[in-house]
Amino acid sequence: MSPLRMFLAKTAATRLIRISFSRPGLLENPAFLKLMERVFSAMALAYDRLWERMGTEAEILGPLAAGLSRVVSPPASVLDLACGTGLATFHVQRLYPQACIVAADLSERMLKVLWRKALGTEQRPLQRLCCHSGALPFGLSSFDLVLTQNAPPYLEEMVRVLRPGGTLLLAYSFVRAAAVREVIQKRCEGLGLAALEIVAAGPGMAVTARKSNEALP
Ligand SMILES: C[S@@+](CC[C@H](N)C(=O)[O-])C[C@H]1O[C@@H](n2cnc3c(N)ncnc32)[C@H](O)[C@@H]1O
Repeated sequence: MSPLRMFLAKTAATRLIRISFSRPGLLENPAFLKLMERVFSAMALAYDRLWERMGTEAEILGPLAAGLSRVVSPPASVLDLACGTGLATFHVQRLYPQACIVAADLSERMLKVLWRKALGTEQRPLQRLCCHSGALPFGLSSFDLVLTQNAPPYLEEMVRVLRPGGTLLLAYSFVRAAAVREVIQKRCEGLGLAALEIVAAGPGMAVTARKSNEALP
């Protein structure tokens, strides 16, 4: 990507991420959810090609890899929220081939693309689920690792379904960490998280934290 395009992409993504962390109520607005579903369903078939134009795999997945390097022991259960066509899902699956992975997204059409890609792999089957990240059909403390890449942060639900001691990971491929660090720190207060880290990684950033053992439940 040209330097100018990269600058514009990062500026736009950084603004969106700032807003999504500072005004979480917006993420529950029905019109916003409908827009998300429509936009991503419409681009599902072209989605992977769009990312290929944005950067190399190392650039796009670099923040995710940086976040995963903070995971202490291989998780047995992983939830990839707003998984799209599975860019993060398949990376995590290669890293943790024994893990039971659930890939969830609001858009059935994005999930269909992911499913077609999954058919071509020898890996342990994924579970896929069409749902809103803000209202997950899972019980408390269901997963060892809950992640989302380049998607809106539904933090309360992410923390709720994470087991105490488990890792929360948010990765953004093209966002300036310095511009959003403060708003993310503030947003994470009171959620029962420990060891919060916000690190710049290539053109993006990763946010990781552990659900503290004292967090209820
Ligand atoms: C930019 S794509 C990222 C997809 C994938 N995580 C990746 O890294 O390529 C954003 C994804 O978030 C999904 N999404 C947006 N809002 C959502 C919500 N409230 N619940 C679940 N998925 C959502 C969209 O359908 C889309 O697939």
